[in-house]
Amino acid sequence: MTMAILVIGATGKTGRPVVEALSARGAKVAAASRDPETGFAGSRTDGVLPVRFDWADRATWAPALEGAEALYIVGPYAHPTGERLVADLLAEAHDTRRVVLLSVIGAELLPEEAMMAHWERAVRASGKEWIILHPNWFFQNFGTGFLPALRDRGVLALPAGQAPVSFVDTRDIGEVAAAALTEDGYAGRILTITGPDALTHAEAVAMLGDVAERPLAYQAVDPEQAEADSRAAGAGERTVISQRGLFQVMRDGGNAPVTDVVQRVTGRAPRSFAQYAAEHAELWRELNAAE
Ligand SMILES: NC(=O)c1ccc[n+]([C@@H]2O[C@H](COP(=O)([O-])OP(=O)(O)OC[C@H]3O[C@@H](n4cnc5c(N)ncnc54)[C@H](OP(=O)(O)O)[C@@H]3O)[C@@H](O)[C@H]2O)c1
Repeated sequence: MTMAILVIGATGKTGRPVVEALSARGAKVAAASRDPETGFAGSRTDGVLPVRFDWADRATWAPALEGAEALYIVGPYAHPTGERLVADLLAEAHDTRRVVLLSVIGAELLPEEAMMAHWERAVRASGKEWIILHPNWFFQNFGTGFLPALRDRGVLALPAGQAPVSFVDTRDIGEVAAAALTEDGYAGRILTITGPDALTHAEAVAMLGDVAERPLAYQAVDPEQAEADSRAAGAGERTVISQRGLFQVMRDGGNAPVTDVVQRVTGRAPRSFAQYAAEHAELWRELNAAE
């Protein structure tokens, strides 16, 4: 039987691989975006229906939710009252019996401002089957949010200290999420999803530099300086507090554990950072050209 699944955040770093993994399983997918025409232009996959969904526009919720038996949620992390919206959405999700929520490794240690705890409580209290994903930081940050700093200065500056992080590929998160959305046996579980080994940011950046054939470096920034820089760049207080919590967890070693969740759920080893670096060689070589 084909199951209809709504993927919120479907144009994002985890959402796209979730859609692809569901599509490969033959699921019927509604892929949500604030701007579905642009968001999925040129990348339509069989069985995938682009739908409009905006956390900030409740009129878009019911049409997107209609017929969705399962739901993948990337929460409204940038919404000023985003902590309440996951509970509100679930109250409207009348056709939905299973929810997979994207949270983060160490969520239980984060301040309430980070919103994850609110969303986790909402899915647990929803009366639906729930699965909470606790992935580590993504490989794909290096090719997106971190890319301008690497390109322009050859330096990635973060308040991460020299902490080891078992970074993970979002394609592996997508495959784990697709299993949790479509197979029985995961309900009521928190899945901590990591890569195969823990690397420091310095080690990860050096590996990209090897592929780029350009020296790339990591610089440990003082946490207070990082907060001042974020405020100066226009970040709101809530974002600053959330980031403080995330990096504190990291410096305390909370992102170092390696789990076997990808192996157990997908039947194969998680992708390595070296593999990710090699697969995106053209992207890193462009960094060299931009020097
Ligand atoms: N980055 C990491 O390393 C990491 C690690 C663990 C957990 N997380 C968690 O992952 C989540 C996503 O973070 P990310 O930075 O990686 O972002 P992302 O998933 O790459 O992109 C954000 C997604 O959210 C959608 N979106 C944004 N505002 C929206 C709105 N108002 N209504 C509906 N959809 C909206 C965007 O879709 P459209 O623009 O198409 O509407 C986009 O698909 C966060 O909760 C973060 O805490 C991130």
